[in-house]
Amino acid sequence: MDIFEAIKGRRSIRKFKKDPVDDKVLKKVIEAGVWAPSAGNLQSWEVVVVKKSKTKEKLASAAYLREFLADAPLILVLCANQHVCSVTYNNRGRELYCIQDAACAGQNILLAAHAIGLGACWVGAFDEDLVSRTLHLPPGLRPVALIPVGYPDENPLPPPRDDLEEFIHYEGCE
Ligand SMILES: Cc1cc2nc3c(=O)[nH]c(=O)nc-3n(C[C@H](O)[C@H](O)[C@H](O)COP(=O)(O)O)c2cc1C
Repeated sequence: MDIFEAIKGRRSIRKFKKDPVDDKVLKKVIEAGVWAPSAGNLQSWEVVVVKKSKTKEKLASAAYLREFLADAPLILVLCANQHVCSVTYNNRGRELYCIQDAACAGQNILLAAHAIGLGACWVGAFDEDLVSRTLHLPPGLRPVALIPVGYPDENPLPPPRDDLEEFIHYEGCE
């Protein structure tokens, strides 16, 4: 699939078929995240793969009852590794770079999932403490997104985007 086709064709998918996702396919998708750029190539992100129904239900509760999370065959919990990044970059590493690393990896994962025929959705609205406690995340590993993954059972229309020119400033913002 052409990269521009993948970028424009990817949608947030919130309804999934029951079919499981093969581990090899999942690893290929996660590997796309590994090849994302990262600050100082520190790759300061990690992912927790959740397939157990009980844990998926807990994550859906932590995400304010978004049941589509529990209905997906699996959830990727994308985490920023604040510890790794702050050793080199201090506060900027802790507060910014590791979040950016995770976001870059996350976008690669979303695109790779789409390119391989899977659906996924970046879910950012959740109780961080509850997710951390549910998954026993150590201090310094901050969950930044819950990404349900599975074969799509919907084909949503693309939500509109603003005009390109609204995003761009030339030479400054005067
Ligand atoms: C930082 C971020 C947070 C998001 N949080 C949620 C969320 O909590 N729940 C949800 O259903 N979708 C969430 N989304 C998905 C957006 O709603 C979606 O990307 C947007 O509406 C555009 O649709 P598209 O992804 O199909 O192009 C989030 C996306 C991003 C990038």
